[in-house]
Amino acid sequence: MRTTRDSLQKMYAEGKKIAVLTCYDATFAHLLENAGIDILLIGDSLGSVLQGHANTLSVTLDDMAYHTQCVVRGSSKAFIMADMPFGSSQVSPEETFVNAARLIAAGAQMVKIEGGQIMAETIDFLTRRGIPVCAHIGLMPQSVHQLGGYKVQGRTTNEAEQLFNDAMLLQEVGAAMLLLETIPALLASKITRELSIPTIGIGAGIDCSAQVLVLHDMLGIYPGNKPRFVKNFMDGASSIQTAVEHYVEEVRAGQYPSAEHSF
Ligand code: KIV
Repeated sequence: MRTTRDSLQKMYAEGKKIAVLTCYDATFAHLLENAGIDILLIGDSLGSVLQGHANTLSVTLDDMAYHTQCVVRGSSKAFIMADMPFGSSQVSPEETFVNAARLIAAGAQMVKIEGGQIMAETIDFLTRRGIPVCAHIGLMPQSVHQLGGYKVQGRTTNEAEQLFNDAMLLQEVGAAMLLLETIPALLASKITRELSIPTIGIGAGIDCSAQVLVLHDMLGIYPGNKPRFVKNFMDGASSIQTAVEHYVEEVRAGQYPSAEHSF
């Protein structure tokens, strides 16, 4: 049986860490869930790791629906979360609903939307109409031009306060999960403690309820930039399956990310 939102909430309530990886195709979906991955995220990082673009900005809703279908066909146990690509959620709540509904129809159980306070109305609209949402704050790759690069967010008091307030608001308007990308571990820890929904960290320290990495990064096969928080789990592993099992073990045991992978 496929993992549900309720089973994830139960893991969270029991203090069991949730292991997440990005996934874009059926073969990897099968492998990852058999290695113990709880959530398969069809990330718009596919723009970089599959399509060879410099960023995620040209990924389309068609791309996301196609890869979501592939991942769903290849899996039967893992929870399926799909990214709303650039331009599909920066529109009216009504239009965002129509776009999100395509990913849900493709088999996603939850959509992920980048944005803080500005997305509150949209997240409220979607969740009241049956679409579970994971909100994504901190470093938001779809805003790379606005942010001026892929930089750690929330370092100043003002930025940290803004992120904290965004997190509380997004939970209030119905977000089921909150992804925190590239923020100081202490801030992520404070946000995680205050919320009653799970946080998913990427470059956000050890205290998040879940951890995620881009699959091609943790396998050490992406030729592009390697952020500080990435650990190559193929080091010392005899197969991809073993590498992913080690990732799951380290996430569950609270061993990854260590201080060297945090800010
Ligand atoms: O697209 C992606 O890979 C993401 C990361 C945060 C995992 O959203």
